[in-house]
Amino acid sequence: MANAYALGEAASRTTVQVDALFLFITLVSLFFFLLVEGLLIYFAIKYRRKKGAEPAATPDIRGNLLLESIWIVIPSLVVAAFFYYGYRVFRDIRTPSPGATDIHAVGRQWLFEFRYPDGRSSINELRVPAGRPVKLILTSDDVIHSFFVPDYRLKQDMVPGRYTTLYLHPDKAGTYPILCAEYCGVSHSTMRAELIVMEPDAYAAWREKKEAPAGLSLAERGKALAEKSGCLGCHALEGKEKFGPNFGKVFGRKVLLADGTSVTADEEYLRESILDPKAKVVKGYPATMPTFKGSLSPEDVGAIIAYLTSLSGGGREEKGEKEKREGAPANKDGEAEAVRKGKTLAETYGCLGCHSADGSVRVGPSFQGLFGRQVELESGGKATADEAYLRESINQPRAKVVKGFPNVMPEFKGKISEEDLSAVIAYLKTLKR
Ligand code: CUA
Repeated sequence: MANAYALGEAASRTTVQVDALFLFITLVSLFFFLLVEGLLIYFAIKYRRKKGAEPAATPDIRGNLLLESIWIVIPSLVVAAFFYYGYRVFRDIRTPSPGATDIHAVGRQWLFEFRYPDGRSSINELRVPAGRPVKLILTSDDVIHSFFVPDYRLKQDMVPGRYTTLYLHPDKAGTYPILCAEYCGVSHSTMRAELIVMEPDAYAAWREKKEAPAGLSLAERGKALAEKSGCLGCHALEGKEKFGPNFGKVFGRKVLLADGTSVTADEEYLRESILDPKAKVVKGYPATMPTFKGSLSPEDVGAIIAYLTSLSGGGREEKGEKEKREGAPANKDGEAEAVRKGKTLAETYGCLGCHSADGSVRVGPSFQGLFGRQVELESGGKATADEAYLRESINQPRAKVVKGFPNVMPEFKGKISEEDLSAVIAYLKTLKR
């Protein structure tokens, strides 16, 4: 850990500030500790009863105004100095840094998810350029977590239903651990992430590469997730089996379960087995797999299933993805893939919290039968809910509010990628009345 007491540059200016404050308090406390204990020992020795001395009466001292004033005033000044110094550092840490990049961080059992302004998101990896302040907007999806960067000496709770903020000053390139510092359940100790501070040039290059449209297909993303989530520690692809069934050729196969029944390993079975592994255990294997509910988003689970499907000889997803990447016009399968993805995204982004898919009215207009319909606007006039309208209403909901509904939808501009936006619209198109 980068440390102000060790040689070398500190990781962040907050490291220096907090360490200096800590050192100040420690040294002052140490000074008074030694003073008081030293005097105690000195007087105990000096005024001890000496061998052979005549017993003498202890003088009857009732008070000493000067002495008492001194030991009230000096400690008061000391604690006031602690407070003032601490307040100065606290104020500096909490003061908004101009030009800071906003990054949302969500705590979940048991991972950290980061969402960048340009719509990218990452799990357990916060990548920022050196020399530019970052504003973290923290919240939690479930229980209270705590975002702790030991090298920066910073910690802030992540509270469900509430945003808290934390400013980072990444001064020095490097990789620093991020820990959860609030006991949040069985996997609390594994809830950790990395803060990767890159030199500005390297960061710009990385970002460009990351944003290139040649990005990963769903199945490739699933592969990476399966590796990252530790699936491959227990499931081999082929050949000799590890703890669980092999992944190769599992999709679409009939499997015998521990309770004697059998089931086809389709998407739904795989989804259930990832989120609730104990529900249908394959015969002959121990029921030891942990649930990934909460640690994998619906989107992630979809990607992993796409990966598993691709292992069994190029499933539907794989085909659709390939054609999409090769720039061929999306066929039916490709479209179905986009719709499925759009549905998942609508759930992930919380659209369905306010818009029903079955015609019932919640906070916003129902998605059912929305596409192609004429809507009356709050500003007077009408609009057809075509692709352009939906696109605008997701990006900038305030532009054209439907009559009779509150103007409360958040802007998704910059939070949703072009590809995701198209997928959501593809999904909305399928919700006919
Ligand atoms: Cu999250 Cu401990």
